Formats: sequence, structure tokens, C-alpha cells
Amino acid sequence: MPILEGKGVTKYFGGLVAVSNVDFKVEQGEALGLIGPNGAGKTTLFNLISAALVPKPGTIRFKGENITGLKPYKICRMVVARTFQLVKVFADMPALSNVILGSYFGMSPGMSSKDAVREATELLEFVGLSAVKGTPAKDLTLANQKRLEVARALATNPELLLLDEMMAGLNPTEVGQAMELVTRIRDKGITIIMIEHVMKAIMNVCERIIVLHHGAKIAEGTPQEIVTSKKVIEVYLGEKAHAGS
Ligand SMILES: Nc1ncnc2c1ncn2[C@@H]1O[C@H](COP(=O)(O)OP(=O)(O)O)[C@@H](O)[C@H]1O
Ligand SMILES: [Mg+2]
Repeated sequence: MPILEGKGVTKYFGGLVAVSNVDFKVEQGEALGLIGPNGAGKTTLFNLISAALVPKPGTIRFKGENITGLKPYKICRMVVARTFQLVKVFADMPALSNVILGSYFGMSPGMSSKDAVREATELLEFVGLSAVKGTPAKDLTLANQKRLEVARALATNPELLLLDEMMAGLNPTEVGQAMELVTRIRDKGITIIMIEHVMKAIMNVCERIIVLHHGAKIAEGTPQEIVTSKKVIEVYLGEKAHAGS
């Protein structure tokens, strides 16, 4: 059974269809890439999966259970966590406290606040932020703020992690480090869906890619199939090549 399955997932904003009749399946333990031009509906699809928005029409199932229309906090308890395209850290709070909040949220019964601190400390280490655990989030580099968001998301103990443009705005060295981090998260057995414009990262990390264009799924396949797809080159990759990215 897929860990996540969408059928006919659709979202209108007024007269604009942001996500249009999209079917998708994500298998347990896989890393799925979600690509497409700006405005294609990628972030909206994340908002639908994490229940910040409700599809209409369409259904989303998590491990076979229909989660359509459940409240976001319930979805998070059902082990879907996410990061945001524009980072949303608690700016004035130290890095460690940002992650502790995630730990409290994902806390299993019987877990003490001491356990939460220990878990948050371990997660900061895992994402490579031990040295800056006392630094207010706003004083971290963008790359580190993104890592902090990942640590906070992991603190809720997700089975499925949604990463929205984690590499955007990072320099090539930081992109390499972020790719390495995503790979280590997947090695923990956490299923990943990542939205990314950095094709190198998608190609290296993901075993499958879905392409959205004007809200609709226009292609799906292995990285190799996607980069050689005429349709995808036409609507997305060709344009990127021109833009030099
Ligand atoms: N809250 C919203 N209200 C109205 N329109 C929105 C909203 N969020 C996204 N959109 C529109 O939906 C379309 C898809 O946006 P988005 O999902 O952010 O695309 P992507 O992440 O692929 O760049 C765009 O045309 C965008 O302007
Ligand atoms: Mg987006």
C-alpha cells in the first residue's frame, strides 16, 4: 500500500485552478521529486497534503486512510511534516528552542520535557547545527535556517517529510550539503517529497519525479525519463536552460 495516495486532487482559488485533477502515489521509503515552472501548483499541492488547504474535489489517503479535510494538527500527528518555501522559524528563539517546540508537538505519551530537550539536541547534531544551538534563529544563515526547519520538522517524528525548495538561495557548497542531509533523512526510512528547482539535487536524490504545469500533472517517471521527456523540456527544462539555471 502506498504511504500517500491522491486521487483527482483539485484546488481552485476563485476562478483559477491551482491544482487540477492530480493523481499521485508515494511509496513508503521513496524520495519523490515535484518539479514544474513557478505557479505550477507545487506548493499548493503541499498545502493540500499537509491539510492547510482542502482539495475540492479529490481525496488524499495516508496509508489507506482518507485524510481529506482533517485539521492540519491532526495530519501532523499522523506523521506528515513539512518545511516552507519561505522559511518560517521562530526568529528570536534560539535554534535549540525552535526544535524543542517540534519535539513537544510530536511528543509521545510518557515523554518528559527532558526527553524533548535530548531529542532536539540530537536532531540539531543530525542536521549539523550543534555549534549554533544557542543562536537566535534570525541570526543564522539562510542555509542554516533551512536546516533548522528540517530539524524542527523531524522533531515531530514524521513518516513523511515535505521539503519545499530547500535548496533555493543556497550556494553550490550548501546545495551539496543539503543533498547529503536529504539522503541521510531518507536512509532513516523517512519518505520524502521534495519540491526543487535545482535539477542536480532532484536527479541525485529522487528515484521518481512528478512534473506539474498549470496545476496538472504532465509527466511522471524516473529522473532519466523526465530529463529526456520532450514535453518536460518544452514547458520547463528548456526554459531553465535558457535562464541558465
Ligand atoms: N492563497 C492563494 N490565493 C490565491 N491564489 C493562490 C494562492 N496560493 C497560490 N495561488 C495561485 O495558485 C497558483 C499555484 O501557486 P503555487 O502552488 O504557489 O505554485 P508553485 O509552488 O508551483 O510555484 C499560482 O497561480 C498562484 O498565484
Ligand atoms: Mg512554490
